[in-house]
Amino acid sequence: MSNNQSESSPVNSAEKEKKADMRVNEKKCSWASYMTNSPTVIVMIGLPARGKTYMSKKLTRYLNWIGVPTKVFNLGVYRREAVRAYKSYDFFRHDNEEAMRIRKHCALVALQDVKSYLTQEGGQIAVFDATNTTRERRDLIQAFVKENAFKVFFVESVCDDPEVIAANILEVKVSSPDYPERHRERVMDDFLKRIECYKVTYQPLDPDDYDKDLSFIKVMNVGQRFLVNRVQDYIQSKIVYYLMNIRVHSHCIYLCRHGESSHNVEGRIGGDSELSPRGKQFAHALQDFIEEHKLSDLKVWTSQLRRTIQTAEELGAPYEQWKILNEIDAGVCEEMTYEMILQTFPEEFALRDQDKYHYRYPGGESYQDLVQRLEPVIMELEQQGNVLVICHQAVMRCLLAYFLDKSAGCKVEMFYLNVEAVNTHRDRPIGSMPKDPSLIHRRNSYTPLSSYDQVKRPRLYSAGNQPWLPLAPTPAALMPEGRPSQVSGS
Ligand code: SIN
Repeated sequence: MSNNQSESSPVNSAEKEKKADMRVNEKKCSWASYMTNSPTVIVMIGLPARGKTYMSKKLTRYLNWIGVPTKVFNLGVYRREAVRAYKSYDFFRHDNEEAMRIRKHCALVALQDVKSYLTQEGGQIAVFDATNTTRERRDLIQAFVKENAFKVFFVESVCDDPEVIAANILEVKVSSPDYPERHRERVMDDFLKRIECYKVTYQPLDPDDYDKDLSFIKVMNVGQRFLVNRVQDYIQSKIVYYLMNIRVHSHCIYLCRHGESSHNVEGRIGGDSELSPRGKQFAHALQDFIEEHKLSDLKVWTSQLRRTIQTAEELGAPYEQWKILNEIDAGVCEEMTYEMILQTFPEEFALRDQDKYHYRYPGGESYQDLVQRLEPVIMELEQQGNVLVICHQAVMRCLLAYFLDKSAGCKVEMFYLNVEAVNTHRDRPIGSMPKDPSLIHRRNSYTPLSSYDQVKRPRLYSAGNQPWLPLAPTPAALMPEGRPSQVSGS
């Protein structure tokens, strides 16, 4: 990795002085400009073809999945908007003044969009996916972040393995809109020259001096080594945790529901019943599928409930049981039919129909709780080779929600084993949404990070602020027999 401006050059001395002045000024003002839950801008750094876009997309998918609204802002997209026809690497030469002006303008436009997203659209994290290879550009971003009281976390991808770089160019850049003709040799040649243009001015993060006060992670050679500096808060530690877990390898993950259980046949939810005769047939069909597809080297995971264990038993292969793969805990509704729930807990029934994701069964879990419980499974799946996960309906929905985001590089295929089973899905009845979308219902389990509150209004009201308005009552139509509802804010 080259850093063509030596540390002792006059340019660097001036930069150091400027930075020292900034630090003195910061010390004069002892209050942090941001709050604990201020939105965060993740700033990618690195030469082209270092996997920044891949990391940005994956990280964004993960953060959204754990309930933190996150969006990527890719500078290449802004540049293509401004300059419709890309001609050659010449555009990226540092002495191409006209192009440099356009590139800076694009960066400023993208940052304005970052600001709108974080201040007006309910976003909590923005990922600024660009090369950001110069200190000048990073200082500009820091000034922007400070002015808006955001937090900033840098992610630098450093890679000097020519094979990885070439593979990245061939896999991603050949299909880039910059190269509509998709001519492999021309793309490779032009892109390598584009990288050389950036190398002339590249200043990697300097953890020992210039950048020692910044919060960042340096990811070296696609995850072989990491350097982590000054992690500021919970969300930054989650970002580090995730980036340290992802691997760039292709593997297959098979998600499979257990065979039909006797509770399924009776229409009961939850419980720990055994497989029905058709459930056993399904387990045989699964074994045939594995043999037909020659899925050797396959790890098999189940929950600790009998219906998944019995499905795995038929495979005649070793398997591991995970408690965290158990089905959503339906609390007081465990082992009841939907009919019984409607009769016994009509309010609960209506509340669940209104917002299934956030609704928590009394004494049980919500889908949102389930996502949090399943996080270690996702981390393990990111690391593993081929895995067959035999699990449950709600668990599979949560895992699929993560993998179905195809923009993060997943391909999804469905296989049917052609064994009849009862349909346990219950459609949401029409008219179950409250007429007033601002209604927030009891048992919602919003976490502070997924709430809009923190970006739109102060959590505590102080002198001069209006206290909250009382919430409107639940529409009578949703309450069986016109029962009064207990509704409270989150
Ligand atoms: C691009 O224009 O494709 C990327 C610009 C940059 O991040 O330097």
